[in-house]
Amino acid sequence: MNAPPLRSPVLNRRGLVIGFAVGALLMLIVGGIAWWSLGSAPSRGQSPAPELTATERRGEKIYTASCASCHGGSDGGTMMDYPPRHNANGHTWHHPDCELTQIVREGGDAMTDAMREMMAPPNSPRMQAFKDRLSAEEIAAVLAYIKTMWTAEERDVQAKITQQECATARS
Ligand code: HEC
Repeated sequence: MNAPPLRSPVLNRRGLVIGFAVGALLMLIVGGIAWWSLGSAPSRGQSPAPELTATERRGEKIYTASCASCHGGSDGGTMMDYPPRHNANGHTWHHPDCELTQIVREGGDAMTDAMREMMAPPNSPRMQAFKDRLSAEEIAAVLAYIKTMWTAEERDVQAKITQQECATARS
């Protein structure tokens, strides 16, 4: 009488499939946790409020008066907040200068509409157009101040995105 083989080919194949499924699930979980912790990390690097330039200080005053009520300050928040955070925990640094300037001048655009659809709770306030309230210099100063809330890495990445995306748009 022959003892049955320890592992039949059928079992083996099933083991493979289960192993693959478990592996894929694990990757999803680990990836999800990494994504979540990146997205909600408290101001990484804690940009130590360096001395602000005159322009950045001017921007800070405008920001406090006109923007912080909706967008919050330099601390706290996550990438999922709505209205979006501008600090190191938000995603403003994913956008090039020309796009940020345009949104502050004209209000929301197609990109922010898509974002609204995905993330905004009902009755969220809207981004207004500031072109009648702020001069080009003032808008530039606000953006300069917003950048002081970012980490050095975020500033680097955003500068590169600006170089790539705004070369022709800037006149
Ligand atoms: C009444 C609330 C409100 C005020 C005040 C406001 N914003 Fe916004 N802002 C929003 C909302 C909401 C969005 C997202 C787009 C939308 O849904 O309209 C947004 C989007 C933006 C964006 C693009 C999204 C991003 O990634 O950051 C920028 C830049 C921005 N605002 C800058 C400013 C600046 C600078 C000021 C002050 C001069 C300001 N906002 C004042 C509500 C506001």
